[in-house]
Amino acid sequence: KNLSIDVSQVAPEVTQDMINKEQDNVLKQLQTLTEKSGKGNDFLGWLDLPDNIDQDHLMSIEKTAARLRGKADYVVVVGIGGSYLGARAVIDALNDSFDHLKGDRKNPAILYAGQNIGEDYTYELLDLLKDKSFGIIVISKSGTTTEPAIAFRVLKELLETKYDKDEVKDRIVAVTDAEKGALRTLADQEGYETYVIPDDVGGRFSVLTPVGLLPIAVSGYSISELVRGAKEMKSLTGTDVPFDKNPATIYAAARNLLYQKGKKIEIMVNYQPKLHYVSEWWKQLYGESEGKENKGIFPAAVDFTTDLHSMGQWIQDGERSIFETVVSVGAARHRVLIPRDEGDLDKLNYIAGKRIDEVNKMAELGTRIAHTDGGVPNIKIEIPELNEFYLGQLLYFFEKACGISGYVLGVNPFDQPGVEAYKKNMFALLGKPGFEEATEEIKKRL
Ligand code: PA5
Repeated sequence: KNLSIDVSQVAPEVTQDMINKEQDNVLKQLQTLTEKSGKGNDFLGWLDLPDNIDQDHLMSIEKTAARLRGKADYVVVVGIGGSYLGARAVIDALNDSFDHLKGDRKNPAILYAGQNIGEDYTYELLDLLKDKSFGIIVISKSGTTTEPAIAFRVLKELLETKYDKDEVKDRIVAVTDAEKGALRTLADQEGYETYVIPDDVGGRFSVLTPVGLLPIAVSGYSISELVRGAKEMKSLTGTDVPFDKNPATIYAAARNLLYQKGKKIEIMVNYQPKLHYVSEWWKQLYGESEGKENKGIFPAAVDFTTDLHSMGQWIQDGERSIFETVVSVGAARHRVLIPRDEGDLDKLNYIAGKRIDEVNKMAELGTRIAHTDGGVPNIKIEIPELNEFYLGQLLYFFEKACGISGYVLGVNPFDQPGVEAYKKNMFALLGKPGFEEATEEIKKRL
């Protein structure tokens, strides 16, 4: 069994016939992507990662992970955007939901920092860690991003008050550029163990580099299974696969047609709260890749059934500018049956003896029918279960489809010029050396 896609419910806006007519164009874009002859082709290293990752590389990551696991009860992953979301997506999807509250944890609890500049968040993290055994994985491709740089500075200072120089060195691992950037310089100076983010892999496509693999390995999950899943998906989305059998070409075709029909917002839906950060990762992947040149679908996300009790009204009856992409998980990992109750005051005895997942699945099916009846086209992507292998398939599928989809839209899916604007203003407002002119300009506007 593999990941599958169902686009039968995108009608009437988009018909099967319309999807089929996209075949030539979409296959051409897949070819361009695979041949590395299109826009942004210096950032396509991620395409071949599943085949290029060798056993030695995985073993080296496992070894580092084992050292951190042996030393630390908490490992703080410091990073933002593409240097954060992939690891969190996989770890949260696989973790016990209450792992952080369990004293008998086998592996360190993973905490995150540098993904915001919240002072209270930072204070509370330092407060938690001050009398705990912890380690740090600091991840930054550029090595100069403000948010993780601030977080790393304060966490490193805390580590240095707790341990001697050698011990600090053993508790920090840096994932960064091979040569450039402040983090590379610092890591070399201090003798931290480092892993390299390849030049030709952009942040949001880096989950299968040490950016994602190291934190996932520290959490105790199988990175070789994750890579195996991605490898399988690489062959299931290759140029030799017919258009209608390739989930990536089908997804790219359907969502671009929906966009052309005025469906400007794509809402990623899950029925497993564990997938919340898979949606966050997907939002960055598609938002940063396609939102440029004044075009691109706006990627949004909801967790169902939770958000059916908040956003459900809007989705059912609001402006008809949306479509949904549901990530559905075939089978739950654990069994909980609904008990029979003598009094039956809550009138649930009609489902007594059923698994909770069966109720969840009927909520999913019922919602799908209600939303398509309400004018919300629905794409369904299904993985048989939540494990490393299928997550590897899911992540690689979305990456591949994103490259194709961006080319169909006509943009360069592998740059992100727009993310610099806020940084320039922030530096100007903070009076960063070198930004004097911008500081003067922006002050006039206040
Ligand atoms: O996708 C991207 O390029 C961004 O989200 C970056 O990953 C993010 O800004 C972090 O950058 P860096 O790894 O250089 O600190």
